[in-house]
Amino acid sequence: MEKQPILATGRLLLRPFDLADARAVQRLCGDYAVAATTLLPHPYPDGLAEAWIASFHEGVERGDAAAFAVTLAGEGSLIGGVRLRIDPAHARGELGFWVAKHCWGRGYATEAVRAVIEYGFSVLGLHRVHAMHFSRNPASGRVMEKCGMIREGRFREHIRKWGVYEDVDLWGVLREPAGRPGTYVLSPL
Ligand SMILES: CC(C)(COP(=O)(O)OP(=O)(O)OC[C@H]1O[C@@H](n2cnc3c(N)ncnc32)[C@H](O)[C@@H]1OP(=O)(O)O)[C@@H](O)C(=O)NCCC(=O)NCCS
Repeated sequence: MEKQPILATGRLLLRPFDLADARAVQRLCGDYAVAATTLLPHPYPDGLAEAWIASFHEGVERGDAAAFAVTLAGEGSLIGGVRLRIDPAHARGELGFWVAKHCWGRGYATEAVRAVIEYGFSVLGLHRVHAMHFSRNPASGRVMEKCGMIREGRFREHIRKWGVYEDVDLWGVLREPAGRPGTYVLSPL
């Protein structure tokens, strides 16, 4: 856990998850609207949040994960999560993220995801960050677009979600200080 810093953005503090977050994670990710566009089960079972948080801690220790609880800077309440699943051999990280439904549409996902992409490139030394979302979930693609990612393609019926084969869109961004679309220009320190 100590391996991960706290990332401060304009309105948010991104900090490591703690086991004490488990109840809030279960409540917020237990929302059908969050489960419907992720691989989360619904209803959200007891014990899953604890296991999920513990798996992040192990992943951070191994160097193949980074995970941040997204909290409101003023009051500290948990409103979401962003994680990177890291493949060190290829210096790439796969993003996943969610925001509590009552906080949608305020730019929080974009603010948090941008910070984690920046962290991945500047601190973790990643070369590429990629992500996928259900094609029927354009809000997620819009977040990726606003974070400088480009849409690289679509895997047809790639994921079976609740018994239905679903298309997913693939997005990526490279760490190249060239400023062309799909590359990420690091902010000056
Ligand atoms: C996807 C999600 C993270 C977005 O969070 P958010 O905090 O509302 O995102 P932001 O406010 O930063 O940006 C959302 C953007 O999507 C746009 N948007 C919302 N619904 C949309 C739709 N149906 N079609 C197109 N764009 C849409 C918003 O207008 C906004 O773009 P804008 O700033 O250009 O107006 C949130 O809805 C969520 O957690 N969903 C459930 C879990 C999930 O799907 N996670 C992603 C898995 S890959």
